[in-house]
Amino acid sequence: MNLPALSPEWLESAETAPTLVPVVADSSLSECCEPDGWLDALANEHLFVWSDFLPPETVDALRDEVYALRDAAQLAQARIGRAGERHRDRATRGDWIHWLDGASPAQQAFMARLDEIRLQASRALIPGLFETESHFALYPPGTHYARHVDAFQAGNCRRLSLVFYLNRHWRERDGGQLAIYDNEGREIHRIQPRAGTLVLFLSQTVPHAVLPTRRWRASIASWMRIRDLSGPLASLNRF
Ligand code: OGA
Ligand code: MN
Repeated sequence: MNLPALSPEWLESAETAPTLVPVVADSSLSECCEPDGWLDALANEHLFVWSDFLPPETVDALRDEVYALRDAAQLAQARIGRAGERHRDRATRGDWIHWLDGASPAQQAFMARLDEIRLQASRALIPGLFETESHFALYPPGTHYARHVDAFQAGNCRRLSLVFYLNRHWRERDGGQLAIYDNEGREIHRIQPRAGTLVLFLSQTVPHAVLPTRRWRASIASWMRIRDLSGPLASLNRF
């Protein structure tokens, strides 16, 4: 069989034809899954809900960690109030917590992802966000967290709050939704605590509550902070 002779036209079209490049490979998760406009939404509405923030395998591993911590009695009852006057108050807040320390690959993946968020938010919206603190939170059935603002008191350096949910197959009737309120106390959003969803909101301006849950409810709560510049000694003792 004779191959057709290569005509000059063919060569030309072959050179200009689009090359097929494999889609995939090295594009990182943040590039392929980052929704448009999350920073704009935060700036305008003070709130953004981001679905499928991490791959399901990472979410599963993080959920397994919380329940392993529960079973090993490594969770502590959460407290409320400022440093120095913190106390437990089950009527206000019923979760059990454990601070993340980066001990597992899943925690490292989560923390690395949050750090990308921190850098972008710091560049575009909240200059000087320099640190993130995160804890697992597990609410037993029958518990809740009453309406509050994360950084209401003077001297609180939290500026961006993030809650990442770890619960599979959450249904409306399970309760435990994150309720968001306006400044008059009217509920304006109700968010299901579904595995893979990250909710971001401004720590100083968004009143919110965890409605009573009927199932075990697992999450990671994080806060990004600015430096405490309230007095020279306050910042000095960090170093
Ligand atoms: C908090 C909080 C919300 C949630 O820990 O401060 O408001 O949905 N958590 O778990
Ligand atoms: Mn809160």
